[in-house]
Order: sequence, then structure tokens, then C-alpha cells
Amino acid sequence: MSITTLRASLLHFANKTQSPDTDLSYFADGLLVLENDKILDIGSAAELLPRYGQAKHMDYSGKLIIPGLIDSHMHFPQTEMLACYGEQLLSWLENYTFPIEAKFADGEYAAAIAEIFLQQLLKNGTTTALVYSSVHKVATDALFRAAKARNMLLAAGKVCMDRNCPDWLQDCPDSAYEDSKALIEAWHNNGRLKYALTPRFAPTSTEAQMQRLGELARAYPDIFIQTHLSENKQEIEWVKSLYPQAKHYLDVYDHYHMVRPRAVFGHCVHLEEDEWQRIKDTGASIAFCPTSNLFLGSGLFDLAKARELDINMTLATDVGGGTSFNMLRTLGEAYKICQLKGTNLSPLSGLYMMTQGAACALQLEHSVGNLNPGTDADFVVLDYRFDELTQLRLTENAAPEDIIFALTMLGDDRATQSTWVAGKEVYQKQ
Ligand code: GUN
Ligand code: ZN
Repeated sequence: MSITTLRASLLHFANKTQSPDTDLSYFADGLLVLENDKILDIGSAAELLPRYGQAKHMDYSGKLIIPGLIDSHMHFPQTEMLACYGEQLLSWLENYTFPIEAKFADGEYAAAIAEIFLQQLLKNGTTTALVYSSVHKVATDALFRAAKARNMLLAAGKVCMDRNCPDWLQDCPDSAYEDSKALIEAWHNNGRLKYALTPRFAPTSTEAQMQRLGELARAYPDIFIQTHLSENKQEIEWVKSLYPQAKHYLDVYDHYHMVRPRAVFGHCVHLEEDEWQRIKDTGASIAFCPTSNLFLGSGLFDLAKARELDINMTLATDVGGGTSFNMLRTLGEAYKICQLKGTNLSPLSGLYMMTQGAACALQLEHSVGNLNPGTDADFVVLDYRFDELTQLRLTENAAPEDIIFALTMLGDDRATQSTWVAGKEVYQKQ
């Protein structure tokens, strides 16, 4: 038995809540106790230290520990194409995305990028992510292998697309089915890994492909499903012309049994009333991707509407449509979008969206998203006074919500002191 204690300020949301501003758990001088890969105990240092005299002690006084962050929508093959200039969604996909994703037919190349991608996640305090691979099975295997080596709780899936993209990047209904099925069998619930069925978006799948993927969705009720929905106005018109029988964009996915708990719809910037309601009624989730929506000029997400309906909300970088791997930075852009929409997004409700709120939406709260005893020890130690400016802005006894907010605007990976996955320190700032 190996027990380690970490002394620091501790902040998390122990429960599912609609009031993160008041329903939080905070210990200014706290102790987080780990036993092997799990959290054993959490509380004030004064109370807990005498109980764990024999443990290995680590002192992070002056730092803030929060749960490992959850990024619910990102593309691993787009790691090398952040910040490609000048386009909106559809031409951006054609001019930049598809040519880059073609490189992932090479498993060795994919393995090398997977290393960089996961390192970027950990460097930014993200320990769980819902990830799109490319269309290639070899690339998806490579990503899973790299995540397994780090013992991360990662959900990922092979992109499926058999039309409206270059020939050399297409699968077909049967290969999408067979490859996805083989990947599910190999990786879903293999250690901490999960599979996410991944039709790229309605325009790039034929109805025959959607049909086959719907069969998989029904055969495996606990896998994730991830796709894009209602991101860009031109895209929505295109979907209407490709699927004239569908009531609306979401209805395409619904017809193929893909709207359900653990289905995560990226963007949802221009939803119709009926789509909002259907997402609510089915227990599906939305991934709000603020940096991407601004960068690609897609539009301003309506968080007030999602809250009004109490929809499962998560926050995501959408790397490489998004512009940063850093979830706190991403929250800063979400805050600005909400400012433009006249909606308040408090720092604690933002933090909730990328920790416990996301975990509850994705049905992962028994493993990640909080610091409750019995969960997996995935967390981040934040060095919130990492430079002259943050030392000026934040005093040593700053309130936790002020720390989080300041880091959304002033922070980046320099605020990550260390990142822990399943009880092991997997990243440490130099
Ligand atoms: N819609 C379909 N594919 C993509 C993608 O790779 N990025 C974004 N932002 N939207 C998409
Ligand atoms: Zn995306």
C-alpha cells in the first residue's frame, strides 16, 4: 500500500449541481490523500495530517489543486494545424484539414503526433478528452496505444466519412462499420479507455454509412458518440439539401439512433427550438467550443438557452478549429461570448463545465471530474502566481473564483505546476 499526501488549496465540486457558485468544496489549507491510483481522503490539513503520519508528504502550499480538466471535443490529427489563416468552416476543412489528416494513413507518423498531442493535454492540465482521430484505423490505434501508456481516461474514435471529402480520405459503409467495430472490441473499456463512434458530420456520410453506424450505436449502448451539429450557417443549409426528409439537422442523427446519453454534439451554435428540446429530452450533451466558434466565425453560442433547459453542458477546445489546448484560456473566450450575448458566466460555473459538470454529462463522475474519495487520482496543481503579472494580480490568499478567473485571461501552460493521472505525476513544469 502506498499513501501520498499533497498539501495545497483544494477546489472541486463534489456533487452534480445547478449552483456551482455556492455548491462547491474548498479547503484553503487542504490535504489530498492518495492511495495508489485513487483518492483516499480529502479535507483540511489540520484535521487530516495527524491521521496520515506515515505517508509520503508533498508540500504544494501556495498552489491550488483542482480536478484534471475534461476537454469534450478535439481533433488529434489537427495538432499541427492550429491557427491556419482566413477561412470559415467548409473551405477551412477543404484547404487545411483534409490535406493534413491524410498524413495519418501512416501509423508511425500518427504515433509521433499522438505523443505530442497527449503531452500538450497534460501540460495544460487536461487529463480526460473526447477525441476525433482521422479516418484511419492505424492512427486511431496509435492514439489509444499512447493514451494507454499514460493510463489516461480518454475516449476516442475513428472518423467515418464516405462522401463530400477527397477520395483518398474516404472509407465506405462497410469499412467504417468493420473498423469501428474492431476498434470498439480492442479499446472500449480496455483499462481506462473508451470508444467514441465518430461520424465526422452529416454532410460527409452517406445514408448507407449512417445506417451501419446506427447499427453499432444500438449494439454498444455504453460507447460515446461524437459528431458536429449546427456549427455554421452554410453547413446547415447543406445538410438540409442532402437530407431533405429530415425535420432538421439533429433529426439526421436521431434517425440513426445517435441522439442519446453519452452522445456529444460539438458546437450547436444555430439550433432550432425543436433541436434544443430534443437534446434535453434524450440526455445528450453539447460541447461548447468558444475559441473555434470565434476563430472560424461560426457564431455565438447561446449558453443562457442551454441553462434554461438544464441541458448537459461541456466545454471544449476543438483543436485545431480552436486556437488553444488550454481549457482555462478556452473558458476566457466562453466568458467573452457570454458577455456579447448578455449572459453571465461565472468562473466557478465555467470550472464546473470542464470538471464535474462534464463528468456528469458524460457519465464519468465515479472516475473523474471531482476529488471525491474512491475516484481516480487525476488532478492538476496550479501555480497561479507564475510570473510578475500574476503575482501582482493575485495575492497568496486570493479567493478561488478570483484565481480561476484571472487564469482564464492571464494564464496558459505556465500555470500548470504538475499534472497527475491515476495517482502518478505525468507532467511537471521545468
Ligand atoms: N465539422 C466537420 N469536421 C469538422 C472539423 O474538423 N472541425 C470543425 N470545427 N468542424 C467540423
Ligand atoms: Zn470539431
